[in-house]
Amino acid sequence: MSKKILLSGVKPTGLLHVGNYFGAIKQFVDFQDEYETIIFIADLHAITTVQDKDLLSKQIYDIAVDYMACGLDPEKALIFKQSDIPEVSELAWYFNCITTVPYLERAHAYKDAEAKGREVNMGVFDYPILMAADILIQDADVVPVGKDQKQHIEYARDTAEKFNRVFNTDIFKLPKEMIVESLAVVPGIDGQKMSKSYGNVIPLFAEHDEVKSLVMRIPTDSKGVDEEKNPEDMVLYQIHKIFNGSEELFNSYKKGLSYKEAKEKLIEDILAFSEPFRKRRAELHGNRDYVLDVLKKGGERAKARVEAKMEKVRNAVGVKLY
Ligand code: AMP
Ligand code: TRP
Repeated sequence: MSKKILLSGVKPTGLLHVGNYFGAIKQFVDFQDEYETIIFIADLHAITTVQDKDLLSKQIYDIAVDYMACGLDPEKALIFKQSDIPEVSELAWYFNCITTVPYLERAHAYKDAEAKGREVNMGVFDYPILMAADILIQDADVVPVGKDQKQHIEYARDTAEKFNRVFNTDIFKLPKEMIVESLAVVPGIDGQKMSKSYGNVIPLFAEHDEVKSLVMRIPTDSKGVDEEKNPEDMVLYQIHKIFNGSEELFNSYKKGLSYKEAKEKLIEDILAFSEPFRKRRAELHGNRDYVLDVLKKGGERAKARVEAKMEKVRNAVGVKLY
């Protein structure tokens, strides 16, 4: 039996953080043997916010390096950038034509931007549709993401159903999100969801001094060392358990471990965890020819994968005459 298809992407909008890794990228890596794995760099989505040529190019390159530094193996996973498949944008257009404005107005990301009084560009408004095209064009079965992306996968499913219904076909498969409950929302150093826009992230590749200063900022209460505490209520523990889920750590947070010691141990655990990643990243970063070759070949393969499907789509819509 052929393997099921796992597909996901990350926007090249800056440094990866611990939330990106545990919420999403870890799953890409863990499942790359079990699934046919397709991982891309969502560069078209990034243009909704990154509108600087050199910065975007740099960030695309960095994510390619970061994916491999995290353990994605280009021999197993297909790695490419979204813009190397122009058909994704073409498909998004067909989807746009069957999507209503009120339906897109219900998207959380759009509503949040509106509520904050931001001027919303069409790219932000249409974001879920471009994402549906990414997913559906490759026949994805499962899409590993953090919880913040759940609604987008629902949009992709709805869009597949609608296209199939409107054009009377069964071209599109209905994808499912893959969300690891315990990692669905990784907290940042202030206890809110870890997110670049909240300024509360621990960068995945941070070195000692940065990790130390971030961990020192995690709030703690004034309970004494020997007072009994509920570790699950503490931001410090909520972050720590991601790196060390042992019962021993849990019990020591409950009683007996001072916050100072807990923070020192967290710094140590984060750095021990990320060391192999940082090492691989440093090795790969200077190997530009190799990294670009992986991306370029990946793009060619990814584009070839969608050709037959897009012919069916054009035929279903009625624009294919020869
Ligand atoms: P982004 O940086 O928004 O492109 O996110 C890349 C992936 O990381 C997406 O699948 C997000 O859902 C996931 N992600 C981002 N922040 C977190 C978080 N704090 N907890 C869990 N997953 C996250
Ligand atoms: N919207 C996703 C994010 O912000 C990135 C993304 C774009 C994506 N297209 C996708 C994720 C398709 C999964 C599948 O993280």
